[in-house]
Amino acid sequence: MDQLQTFLLPLLLLLCPPVSTSKEGGGEARPHSRAHPTPYLAFLQGKDDNFCGGFLLAPGWVVTAAHKPLTVILGAQTLQRREESWQTFEVESYHRHPAFTNPKNGNDILLLKLKGNATTNSHVRPISIQKSRVRGGAECSVAGWGYGTATVTFREATVTIITPRDCLSYNPGLPGNVICGHSKTAGVPEKSDTGDPLVCNNKVLGIFSYGQSNWPDFYTHISPFLPWISRVMKSA
Ligand SMILES: *[C@@H]1O[C@H](CO)[C@@H](O)[C@H](O)[C@H]1NC(C)=O
Repeated sequence: MDQLQTFLLPLLLLLCPPVSTSKEGGGEARPHSRAHPTPYLAFLQGKDDNFCGGFLLAPGWVVTAAHKPLTVILGAQTLQRREESWQTFEVESYHRHPAFTNPKNGNDILLLKLKGNATTNSHVRPISIQKSRVRGGAECSVAGWGYGTATVTFREATVTIITPRDCLSYNPGLPGNVICGHSKTAGVPEKSDTGDPLVCNNKVLGIFSYGQSNWPDFYTHISPFLPWISRVMKSA
C-alpha cells in the first residue's frame, strides 16, 4: 500500500499541480492543500450508520453497487471531522440495473443521480471507465473506507486480476460481466466496501460486489454496461 502511494503521489502531483505554490511558513495554513490521491472516491452514507463506497463518474453521477445510500460525500480524506474539501449531496434518483437480483447473480451496479453537480478540483474529480481489456496478472488497485468508524481514513490495496477462465474454473457458477481479483492486503476490500472502484491505469474497471474468505473478490465489470449507463444518464 505504501509502495502504491509513493508511486501514485508524484504522478498525481504531475496531473494536478497545486493552484499556487507558497513557501513554507509564508502564508496562512491552508487545509487540504494536498491533492486527493483518489479524488473520484465517494463515501456513501445510508440509514442506521450503514455505509458503502462508490465513485464519481460525472459531475452529477455516482456509481455504486447493491445498497441505496442517502448521502454522498466526495473529497474526503478522513471521516474524523468534516474537511473543507468535502462536497456533500443528497441523491435525487436511484437507477439499479433492471436485471439485478442479488450480487451473486451479477449485474451489481447502481447509478445515483445527485441533487446538484460536483465541482471538479484537486479533491474531487470524475474518473473514466476502462474500456480496454485488462490481462490476467495485471495489478490494479481498490480504494475504500473499510469498516467506516468515524476514525477511519480511506485505504488502498493492490489487486491482482485473475483471468475469467481461471476464475470460472474455481467458481463454476460465476455470472457474466464479473471480474475476479486477489487483494494483496488482508481485509481490503471488506464487506462494507461494496461499491468501491477497482482502478487499472487510472481508469475504473470494476465495482467491488462481494468477497468470500479464501476466494478472490468479485467485481462488476463496468464496460459491458456502458450502453445502459449512457441511456440512464441521458434519460434521467
Ligand atoms: C448539472 O450539469 C448538467 C450537465 O452539464 C446540467 O444539465 C444540469 O442542469 C446541472 N444541474 C444542476 C443542478 O446544476
